[in-house]
Amino acid sequence: MLDFTYYAPTKVYFGKGMEKKVGEIIKEYGYQKIMLQYGGGSIKKTGLYDRVMTSLTENGIAVVEMGGVEPNPRLSFVKKAIQKAKEEQVEMILAVGGGSVLDSSKYTASGAKYDGDVWDFPLRKATPKDALPVGCILTIAAAGSEMSSSAVISHQDMKRGYNSDFNRCQFAICNPELTYTVSPYQTACGIVDIMAHTMERYFSVCPPTDLTDRLAESILKSVIQAGRTLIDNPEDYEARATAMWASSLSHNDLTGCGRQNVLAVHQLEHALSGEYPQIAHGAGLAVLFPAWARYVYSYQPERFAQFARQVWDVKEEDDQQAALCGIEKMEEFFTQIAMPLKLREFEIPKECTARLADLCTFGKQRTIGTYIDLDYRDVKNIFDSCY
Ligand code: NZQ
Ligand code: ZN
Repeated sequence: MLDFTYYAPTKVYFGKGMEKKVGEIIKEYGYQKIMLQYGGGSIKKTGLYDRVMTSLTENGIAVVEMGGVEPNPRLSFVKKAIQKAKEEQVEMILAVGGGSVLDSSKYTASGAKYDGDVWDFPLRKATPKDALPVGCILTIAAAGSEMSSSAVISHQDMKRGYNSDFNRCQFAICNPELTYTVSPYQTACGIVDIMAHTMERYFSVCPPTDLTDRLAESILKSVIQAGRTLIDNPEDYEARATAMWASSLSHNDLTGCGRQNVLAVHQLEHALSGEYPQIAHGAGLAVLFPAWARYVYSYQPERFAQFARQVWDVKEEDDQQAALCGIEKMEEFFTQIAMPLKLREFEIPKECTARLADLCTFGKQRTIGTYIDLDYRDVKNIFDSCY
């Protein structure tokens, strides 16, 4: 096990009806004026917006609204939110939505305490020294942003994230019932993303980490089962609850303790949904994860064989064969939950792979990866292999 520092300060309020406490919770922290960020309107359709506003008003919290965060959120929106947060002197940001609303809120929170351009943070020109606190009401189990230290935003054709403890939510309200209305497609995208956060940490070159491995394998098995259940029963509370808690556990670094955390497939995917914002992050991962795995498994077949045996109950004794069976099982599952497996399913041109490889490697300036350093050529090969 490698040395590690573990920090997961977010207070989680988990369960039915928890969103009604939001005003009370914010009042306890002593905030009197907040910015409420939300997405394209799902919270109004479901009635969540009204419940949140009632709770905030009853507790005397003044609200500055910033609705309209798009999936794969954009810097232009964030800049408007920062300006408003500064003008209105809000004391915290409340994100009500999924990973996109959360990430927009996180960037806003850091930007509100920074005099320069908030894009400096992902470009590594500056690091946040202060930020407004962020709290959230999570409405979709997917990105894990509710407990993660990262925030991801797109600008022009670049999708970039950065990590900071200022990105940790002070509290996260997680009511699985709020996710009943998430479409089957977005539910599946979420399941893939949760799996990807767990698998990215699982597949890294490290000394033995038995406990962390078992935690990761359990999360994967549970979330796969939840995904299967939710195909036919989108209102199965236990499955929704499993997915929601797994979302947090998959990306709060619990499954990274004692291991390396190199999220290579995420780097590939961020190039994809940065260039094509109509592509959901989880759907991009469903295409790229098996392709990446096939490209690198032979560098550590025993690891991929362990994954196959522990997670997918593969009985094959030969490591190479078992590793490939595990990757096939992953693809079968993604197909079962109606996720794409090929880039062409997004109706993007075949020639795009060179551009995507260029974006991913920052114009051939960097390599990514765990088992091997993937350079421009490798990255392009992976994109080509899944067209
Ligand atoms: O915008 P609204 O109307 O709310 O609709 C959203 C959106 O269209 C809808 N939705 C959410 N909750 C719903 C609902 N529809 C009905 N009922 C509900 N209860 O779902 C759609 C997708 O929402 P989004 O927030 O984009 O999804 P997700 O949570 O998957 O977030 C994806 C974003 O998070 C980033 C991704 O790159 C992507 O930009 N990530 C952030 C991470 C982090 N900060 O730690 C880690 C991840 O790896 C990821 O990169
Ligand atoms: Zn992700």
